[in-house]
Amino acid sequence: MSQAAAAAVGPTIKLSGRVSQFIAQKRKLLIDGKWLDAASGKTFEVYNPATGEVVAHVAEGDKEDIDRAVKAARKAFETGPWSKMTPSQRGRIVWKLGDLLLENIEEFSELESLDNGKPVGVARAADVPLAADLFHYMAGWATKLEGNTISLSVPYTPGQSYHAYTRREPIGVVGQIIPWNFPLLMAAWKLGPALATGCTVVLKPAEETPLTALRLGELFEKAGLPPGVVNIVPGFGETAGAALAAHRDVNKIAFTGSTEVGKLIVKAAAGDLKKVSLELGGKSPNIVLADSDVDATIPGVASAIFFNHGQCCCAGSRLMIQDKIFDKVVEGVAAQAKQIKLGPGLDPSTQMGPLVSTTQFERVTGYLESGFKEGAKAVVGGKSPGGKGYFVEPTVLVDTRPDMKVYKEEIFGPVVTAMPFKNVDDEMIARANDTVYGLAAGIWTKDIGKAHALAARLHAGTVWINCYNIFDAALPFGGYKQSGWGREMGHDVLENYTETKAVCLGYPS
Ligand code: NAI
Ligand code: MG
Repeated sequence: MSQAAAAAVGPTIKLSGRVSQFIAQKRKLLIDGKWLDAASGKTFEVYNPATGEVVAHVAEGDKEDIDRAVKAARKAFETGPWSKMTPSQRGRIVWKLGDLLLENIEEFSELESLDNGKPVGVARAADVPLAADLFHYMAGWATKLEGNTISLSVPYTPGQSYHAYTRREPIGVVGQIIPWNFPLLMAAWKLGPALATGCTVVLKPAEETPLTALRLGELFEKAGLPPGVVNIVPGFGETAGAALAAHRDVNKIAFTGSTEVGKLIVKAAAGDLKKVSLELGGKSPNIVLADSDVDATIPGVASAIFFNHGQCCCAGSRLMIQDKIFDKVVEGVAAQAKQIKLGPGLDPSTQMGPLVSTTQFERVTGYLESGFKEGAKAVVGGKSPGGKGYFVEPTVLVDTRPDMKVYKEEIFGPVVTAMPFKNVDDEMIARANDTVYGLAAGIWTKDIGKAHALAARLHAGTVWINCYNIFDAALPFGGYKQSGWGREMGHDVLENYTETKAVCLGYPS
């Protein structure tokens, strides 16, 4: 792994008193500003992926709890103090959420590492600061949501003039369903723009990783967020998630997760045509041209797949390398993979943690088995190191073909397929685009003109040139094709949470 990634792992850390205390208590649902048990009284277990042990118990929300939460969000949207706040007051609350995250960065980093398995240093260097930055960026938009004045040319009302304008209004009550790969960051991506635009929210975190969202919920009051504006209902997808997607008093669903569930969300939302935005899977081509700076490219393409253990929707999972340098790049990436130290996220020397769950472990090792059966070879890795926890070795597969499952489907683990190509031509570009997904792509070359020409032809929501996994609150992110609908972040995301109202006044002229 690169020096930068190793440095990000950070100093020694043990579970702090605050995190121990937080997980020792049963965590509840946040509805209308109160922490409540589930209506059913049920709870579910949260596991430490490094050991498979239970670390916390969380109230298990279901349909009835979702309904209570939606009612609270509706009340807060229609009549509460939130709806009467000025944009500036709203912006200050959103900003404060970012400040509070930074004030508690050690605690959030530990909790995220414990819950998700990622190295605590990565949570401290990336997840928590990016989440804070998202709130800080979105806070500024609260005061900048503007409409237009529009001159009309209506021909059939002589003697009458019009004053017409548009307003950008919050869409209403929003249901937000998020995954487990960046639990806190995904909560921030969703909450930031919803709050900046004046919506109210029911947030359902992933059942694998509900802890940091629940801890964030404890900071709402301090940030000045009135009760009911954000309600948090942890629970399972098939129950709580499905109830939220189908609820008739929710105006919009924002979802991040699998393409398969994205389609279920669309079906559930079709009942009342609620608005939907989706951020789904990927199988992103990472294209290395023969003229690239190989010494910089090798660690770059390695971290494109191995960052967050490959559990990134935009992971650079299809490495396409120009044949002249194929062996050199594959050897280099394999050497990087060999050096990565696997271990529990809370061990400061760990560079790659376990996968998030036993389900994901089985899914990823299942893909490896299917790849080997179909004739793929592992240059490095290819199995689990064994023992406790859901660890899988960083893996580079060669001898893959476009018809193999490992080449076509999203693996969501530290597994990259490497294939050579001859020239930068239509055939190579068609192969890069030959996927149902269209989330991201990478290009590595010293020829900047060629890079931009190629970037224009890739069907992907993000193209990184000589870099990868660069995220910024100001940069829109989202997918072409089956990678999703709409964009997160930047000003594009405001479209997801606002309606445009045209107002027209007639007066005699
Ligand atoms: P998932 O799509 O089932 O889960 C994501 C969220 O959706 C969770 O909060 C879950 O509770 C909820 N959910 C599940 N079923 C639902 C339903 N019927 N209605 C409403 N909400 C529902 O993803 P899962 O099962 O955790 O992972 C499976 C695969 O999905 C991964 O291997 C990966 O390929 C992909 N994935 C993609 C992510 C991304 O960032 N785009 C994130 C997580 C998973
Ligand atoms: Mg699922």
